[in-house]
Amino acid sequence: MKKTTVYDCTIIELDKHHHEKGNISIVENNATIPFNVQRTYYLYDVPGGESRGGHAHKELQQLIIAASGSFSVTINDGHIKRTFLLNRPYQGLLIVPGIWRELDDFSSGSVCLVLASHKYDEQDYIRSYEEFLKYKK
Ligand code: TYD
Repeated sequence: MKKTTVYDCTIIELDKHHHEKGNISIVENNATIPFNVQRTYYLYDVPGGESRGGHAHKELQQLIIAASGSFSVTINDGHIKRTFLLNRPYQGLLIVPGIWRELDDFSSGSVCLVLASHKYDEQDYIRSYEEFLKYKK
């Protein structure tokens, strides 16, 4: 997992069923995404100008969706950074393990929905950027 790069992370287009009464998008375990969802959480009411993330995971995979509004996700493998503007509820950014991420530019009222491959485990976090760079070597 240490050798992952930002190019292993990708935008996944979700099925979008359009109805006059509104739309629906679907994520299925091991079909839409390459893992089983064991945890779902969402960020909301993020104050303007605030950043989230600022860490990496050793094993966790995640799909990040702008369920409402927009925000930017910058991913970094220690060599290369890529920034994605997420602003469509039918697109998700797959983040593989071993990637530093920062989320910012949250629009007012935005909701960041995260589908995660494992339960919460603080031991899986790398919260120091220096430690992350050592880990990637
Ligand atoms: P963290 O993952 O650091 O936030 P973000 O990446 O969104 O900036 O989590 C923030 C706090 O919430 C941290 O103290 C741990 C807690 N938390 C849980 O208890 N369970 C969870 O599933 C998550 C994602 C966070």
